[in-house]
Amino acid sequence: MPATPSADHTPARGVAHEQVTSRPASATRLSLSHITAQNETNLLGTVHGGVVMTLVDSVAGVVAARHSGGPAVTASMDEMVFLVPVRVGDVVHFTAQVNWTGRSSMEVGVRITADRWDSVSAQVHVATAYLVFVAVDEEGKPRAVPQVVPETDEDHRRMREAEIRRSHRLARRQAIISSREGTE
Ligand SMILES: CC(C)(COP(=O)(O)OP(=O)(O)OC[C@H]1O[C@@H](n2cnc3c(N)ncnc32)[C@H](O)[C@@H]1OP(=O)(O)O)[C@@H](O)C(=O)NCCC(=O)NCCS
Repeated sequence: MPATPSADHTPARGVAHEQVTSRPASATRLSLSHITAQNETNLLGTVHGGVVMTLVDSVAGVVAARHSGGPAVTASMDEMVFLVPVRVGDVVHFTAQVNWTGRSSMEVGVRITADRWDSVSAQVHVATAYLVFVAVDEEGKPRAVPQVVPETDEDHRRMREAEIRRSHRLARRQAIISSREGTE
């Protein structure tokens, strides 16, 4: 969850939950750029994966909160594959949008790219992450979210792929529950 109004999910004064039933995908799309620093490295001297993951969770949380019109908590984060290392000084960009909505949950996709600090070269694709956020009320209980409306072919592709990821998540969870019932 990003820095939300308060730790106990109480909206800040003057912040009310919006009552909209749908929102276009472009309405809450966000980009964040960050210049990496010396204090963000791992033992190899490249940028620590946890630094990137924190920024991914933060920007995705803001997108989820804006889309749902109130607080939203991180429920899960899918496998995240780092394709290339980020070097100190590189400018890392995080572009996030809601790909799919359920009743109270939302999948937010984040694409992470980087511009090398010391060369005018093509931007590199660092990683892509998919997170599920659940919108919560003042008691921390799930609340309904506006449905995301895909606008472009890309948005439709993202929604289809998000549905595949959701069905895999649910199937995996069910398979693990069944396997434990078989052994206990
Ligand atoms: C996420 C949370 C609110 C879900 O509460 P819950 O009582 O289990 O909710 P439900 O079983 O009614 O499910 C609500 C929705 O969450 C989704 N959900 C729950 N757990 C999930 C998971 N692990 N992954 C993906 N989606 C999940 C459900 O599919 C459902 O989606 P839908 O309403 O769109 O159909 C609750 O588990 C929670 O508060 N977790 C802690 C979150 C947190 O603190 N994150 C920050 C970590 S530091």
